Amino acid sequence: MRTHYCGQVTAEHIDQEVTVCGWVHRRRDHGGVIFIDLRDREGLLQVVYDPDRADIFALAEDVRNEFVLQVTGKVRHRPEGTVNTNLTTGEIEVLGTDLKILNKSQTPPYVIDDETVSEEHRLKYRYYDLRRPEMLARLKLRSDVTRVLRNYLEDNGFLDVETPMLTKATPEGARDYLVPSRTHEGNFFALPQSPQIFKQLLMVAGLDRYYQIVRCFRDEDLRADRQPEFTQLDIETSFIDEGEIMSLMEGMVQTLFKDTIGVELAKSFPQMTYADAMHRYGSDKPDLRIPLELVDIADVLQDVEFKVFSGPAKDPKGRVAALLLPNGCELTRKEIDGYTDFVGIYGAKGLAYIKVNELAKGREGLQSPILKFLPDDAINTIMKRVDAKDGDLVFFGADKTKVVNEALGALRVKLGHDRNLIEGEWAPLWVVDFPMFEWDDGDKRWISLHHPFTSPNEDDLDKLKNDPGNCRSRAYDMILNGTEVGGGSMRIYRSEVQKTVFEQLGIDDDEAQDKFGFLLDALSYGCPPHGGIAFGLDRLVMLMSGAQSIRDVMAFPKTQTASCLLTQAPSEVSERQLRELHIKLRKPPKLAES
Ligand code: AMO
Ligand code: AMP
Repeated sequence: MRTHYCGQVTAEHIDQEVTVCGWVHRRRDHGGVIFIDLRDREGLLQVVYDPDRADIFALAEDVRNEFVLQVTGKVRHRPEGTVNTNLTTGEIEVLGTDLKILNKSQTPPYVIDDETVSEEHRLKYRYYDLRRPEMLARLKLRSDVTRVLRNYLEDNGFLDVETPMLTKATPEGARDYLVPSRTHEGNFFALPQSPQIFKQLLMVAGLDRYYQIVRCFRDEDLRADRQPEFTQLDIETSFIDEGEIMSLMEGMVQTLFKDTIGVELAKSFPQMTYADAMHRYGSDKPDLRIPLELVDIADVLQDVEFKVFSGPAKDPKGRVAALLLPNGCELTRKEIDGYTDFVGIYGAKGLAYIKVNELAKGREGLQSPILKFLPDDAINTIMKRVDAKDGDLVFFGADKTKVVNEALGALRVKLGHDRNLIEGEWAPLWVVDFPMFEWDDGDKRWISLHHPFTSPNEDDLDKLKNDPGNCRSRAYDMILNGTEVGGGSMRIYRSEVQKTVFEQLGIDDDEAQDKFGFLLDALSYGCPPHGGIAFGLDRLVMLMSGAQSIRDVMAFPKTQTASCLLTQAPSEVSERQLRELHIKLRKPPKLAES
């Protein structure tokens, strides 16, 4: 039906006849001449109709936005002064000699490039929204990304193997999406939170190197970088250690960036321990482009009268930290109040600060509501430790360690963006030496920081039983610009170690057998040492395309409340379907028998 894509007709085609198909982006009547910008996947093309051929001209007068056309015409130079350098096709136009309206369109729900249209509206008319060049470009990038990743992995001996979608619960820490079984009354499948257990079984099977681009399902609270169904690039390998996996994955991400968006990432990604990351950045996914760091000052403040500081300073579970903002004296009272509200979201009860007007003047040169509570020597030590200069501002956080880390960690990132402090474009790193467990104060039990199949550090095996809080794991996360793009670990491959970990997690023998008996069995039939990683594909593409949310790089994403505005899923089902699934609703469904 066509000879070219609209977006690919250029000066090289001048004097040729072309036939293109696409959607009417805009139609303008210019005193007896009609201009149509025709749009397809590859871009826009300007078509001109003059009244020489009355029948076709009349047809051109009838077309409206988003009509689907087939256009034939001759390519010619645009007249002097009308060349559009922003378009690949901007040098030329097509003088239309034929026109077919292949389909009409209702008046579109909104103007396609209107920036003010709500996301709800865009999601409802997603097929229309995806016609936007920006959206198409993101989906194209996504396709490029999967191609390059597949090529790299295939070149490195990885085999693509599919794993079940209807399966048993996999413990990645979120709620499961459940699917009721018709044939087994009262039983449910779980949609996989990840293929974790299956990929380990593939290693037991001797596949050696596995990968899969796979959908995962997690019923959790959604954010800009979380969706209920999302895509992982999932990887597992045998007879390899963490160093080898990490360098293989670094190579993959470097190749990915180079071959898709032409970016040369660092030759080798820095590694940072979890403890260091929390200490310096208050986060296990630090954005290293922001040159601000948390500085511990509890030792200086144990005996001060100001209880807000001395309390957490003396508490073994507390932390008192300072965060220096260069030139922060510029902040207004209102801005500081705004930041105080911001850290409140993370549970901070306040945000003390000192403005450093003139250091040489000592106390007189400082300005702060808490100055009166602090002795000279404490102030001097703090100013030295944070390396304060005239014009700077020092923020303080004092609370339980978790609150201080989350509050100042988030404030650090916010200040970085608000104050234009971001240095460089890409900051990848590995975070390593995670703790095996995290104490859940609500449930009063240990939970896995990664997942229960993560191997403990060989040097900490004694701690696994006696001091689980200080046992490190062999997990590693890849962080890019403050986003966790991938996470993985070396796995437990001996059933005794796996049993001990289950014990620590409060999973007794019966439950272990019931939930993971097949895995424990497999470990006992010749399981090789193995490890792997999974990347969040949506997150990678989001970062690479500069999108603000992973919703913008998914063709058909869900809303914050996990519904699809396009199809209206989830939705009610008929009584008959429910009966077949042995489900009784307390409230009968509105749908009649069908
Ligand atoms: P993890 O749970 O860390 O590890 O997931 C791996 C990566 O998947 C991405 N991700 C998400 N992306 C979008 N929406 C979500 N709800 C979401 N949850 C996670 C993140 C994350 O780094 N089986 C292990 C991997 C392994 O150990 O090999 C796993 O799933 O980018
Ligand atoms: P207050 O004594 O409550 O008026 O607090 C004095 C100053 O300390 C104010 O600037 C508060 O924002 C700040 N502040 C209060 N609690 C904390 C805290 N836990 N961490 C840091 N600053 C705090």
